[in-house]
Amino acid sequence: MKILLVCLGNICRSPMAEGILRHMIAEQGLDWRTDSAGTGDYHVGEQPDKRAMKTMRERGIDISDLRARHLRASDFEEFDLLVAMDANNLHNMRQVAPSHELAKKARLMMDYAPAHPLREVPDPYFGGDEGFVEVYEMLTVACRNLIDDVRR
Ligand code: 4NP
Repeated sequence: MKILLVCLGNICRSPMAEGILRHMIAEQGLDWRTDSAGTGDYHVGEQPDKRAMKTMRERGIDISDLRARHLRASDFEEFDLLVAMDANNLHNMRQVAPSHELAKKARLMMDYAPAHPLREVPDPYFGGDEGFVEVYEMLTVACRNLIDDVRR
C-alpha cells in the first residue's frame, strides 16, 4: 500500500499527516509506504514549518527529514491512495490527474473522521501554534481510521 498526503505548501498539514501515518504504520508493523506533496510549488525543497516540527516533536514524532515537493501527474500511477487536506487541494489534485479513472484515487482526509465537526483540515500557516495542535489532533483521529479502513 502506498499513500500520498497532499496539501497546498507541503510544509504544514501534509508532512504532519505523513509523520503521524508513518508512525502508526510502524507501530502496527505494516509494510506500507508514505510520501507527501503540495499542489503549490512555493516551498519545494524546504523542511516542514518549524511550528509543525515542534508540535510533532513534542508528541514524539520527528518529521525533520521530510522535504517539500510538488504534486505530479505520475503520483496518480505510483500511489494507491492520495489524501487531500481540504476541498481546494482535492479540486487542484483532480486537475493534475492523468485520467478521470485515476482521479478517483484522491480522497479528502476528514472523510475518514465523519464524527469530527470539521470536514477539512484548516490551513495553520497564517495562525499561531494552537492551529498546529488542532491539526495534529484532527489528523491523529483521521489517520487511525484511514488505516482501519484500508485494512478492512
Ligand atoms: P500547508 O500550509 O498547505 O499545510 O503546507 C501552507 C504553507 C504555505 C502556504 C500556504 C499554506 N503559503 O502560502 O506559502
